[in-house]
Amino acid sequence: MQKKILIIGASGQIGTELTIKLRALYGNDNVIATDIREGSKALMLSGPFEILNATKKEAIKALLLKHQIKDVYLLAAMLSATAEKMPQKAWDLNMNSLLHVLNLAKEGLISKIFWPSSIAVFGPNSPKKDTPQYTIMEPTTVYGISKLAGERWCEYYHHKFGVDVRSLRYPGIISWKTNPGGGTTDYAVEIYHKAITNGTYTCFLKENTRLPMMFMEDAVAATVQIMSTTKSSIRIRSSYNLSAIDFTPQEIALEIKKHLPNFTIKYAPDFRQEIADSWPQTIDDSHAKKDWHWKHNFDLQNMTIEMLKNLKLKYHSTPEMQNL
Ligand code: SER
Repeated sequence: MQKKILIIGASGQIGTELTIKLRALYGNDNVIATDIREGSKALMLSGPFEILNATKKEAIKALLLKHQIKDVYLLAAMLSATAEKMPQKAWDLNMNSLLHVLNLAKEGLISKIFWPSSIAVFGPNSPKKDTPQYTIMEPTTVYGISKLAGERWCEYYHHKFGVDVRSLRYPGIISWKTNPGGGTTDYAVEIYHKAITNGTYTCFLKENTRLPMMFMEDAVAATVQIMSTTKSSIRIRSSYNLSAIDFTPQEIALEIKKHLPNFTIKYAPDFRQEIADSWPQTIDDSHAKKDWHWKHNFDLQNMTIEMLKNLKLKYHSTPEMQNL
């Protein structure tokens, strides 16, 4: 029998696309989507959905038992920009949800966990270029502190209790189906929307701010890959560095201009500039390449083609979405 999967945070940017991918791979009814709020039509109509508050351990437990779940993907989290505004709430959500899932695995109710970490675990004292897997990690954001603490808990639960938890340090994720919310890398999604709807975009980061990024298809592929790799290949139980592309706002704008020559960009950096300045510019993911043969597919050129093509179709078919 196909094992059942629980997705916590399924209505979010990554959750939506990951759920749909896992449903295609393992059967719609075998992937139970949950979130604090309902998600997109595509998510809601493609399989089972339940409302779940990820900070309530007993509620998670009840769903595990009700659906005879084996694997859990915990994607619920407050991202970097929002977390700076609500530090305590961010810490409570990001930490408690992870500890609940780790404890439920320790109690024997979950066999495998996926939990995402982030480039935000690095800080101003980490090397900026080709940031290594093992280096100085002194995050200066609430989000980064919660992700670094989470990584330490993952490794601890693996070594002490044998919990099979697997994790990736995602870079900024770019997608056209669902919007990100509250992150510092969100500009790289907004810019495509505004290029199509307004022909101009005001960026909240400076033109030369380089950050590591990745197209959603690659992020989902990496997640599926690390979760289906044999246990013994996973040598890092904190979280793997993961990399694909990197660019600055100026470079992505130039790429968009190749397709939309009249597109213009302005810069009005806000508090998110300081967050971006504390993060790496490029990431060394040689461990992921060596241990489970990670390889990305999308570069800035073909990602831009995909983003513009699909967003044009989306705005064309549903004009009300132009308010996004
Ligand atoms: N995309 C995230 C953020 O900007 C980083 O993991 O917060």
